[in-house]
Amino acid sequence: CSISPESILKSGPVIPVLVENDINNAIEITKALLAGNVKVIEVTLRTPNSLKIIESLSHEFPEAIVGAGTVTNMRQFAAAEMAGAKFCISPGSSNELLMGAMQGNTPLIPGVSTVSEAMCARNIGYKVLKFFPAEAAGGPKVLSSIAGPFPDLLFCPTGGININNAPTYLNLANVLCVGGSWLVPSEAVKNQDWQQITSLAAETSELCA
Ligand code: 3PG
Repeated sequence: CSISPESILKSGPVIPVLVENDINNAIEITKALLAGNVKVIEVTLRTPNSLKIIESLSHEFPEAIVGAGTVTNMRQFAAAEMAGAKFCISPGSSNELLMGAMQGNTPLIPGVSTVSEAMCARNIGYKVLKFFPAEAAGGPKVLSSIAGPFPDLLFCPTGGININNAPTYLNLANVLCVGGSWLVPSEAVKNQDWQQITSLAAETSELCA
């Protein structure tokens, strides 16, 4: 039985977005994030090994909640489910994905960037959405405006978020958490500086939603 998207997004103030192809790096990154109190992790399906990474992290770290990101169609959704993803996140919404994922066992958090897209997703039954690309699409002002007509919608804004602008999003009543790649800087991975990732995770996990 799957966890609700709302409880996944309430598990911490941030979901780090991983773009990684090396399984050993992904394991070290996950250890570092868990040490900094971050346990929900989005592994994007942008690298050849991403499904293997989801499978291996889910197996090695039962305490983590590992999901798939950049899921853009039902083929990827099904593959992520098979790999053990606890949730799927899409950057945008297609009818195929919105309708298809409703029949699956894994929660989909669909991406939207406009009121019309939010309405379409809501009409199909989605109440927990990714707001992407958050900063480029208008940021916190858009989200607080959407709360007027649609107070039942809840968001994970992602795209252009960092430690400095995250608090403004997290202060909004319709934001459960934020997503972002800033917790896993490519320089830190290149230098195998796992401590830096733990420090960034610890600093971020202290922010309150
Ligand atoms: C993603 O790549 O899915 C997120 O948009 C990450 O955005 P960021 O790199 O701006 O945090």
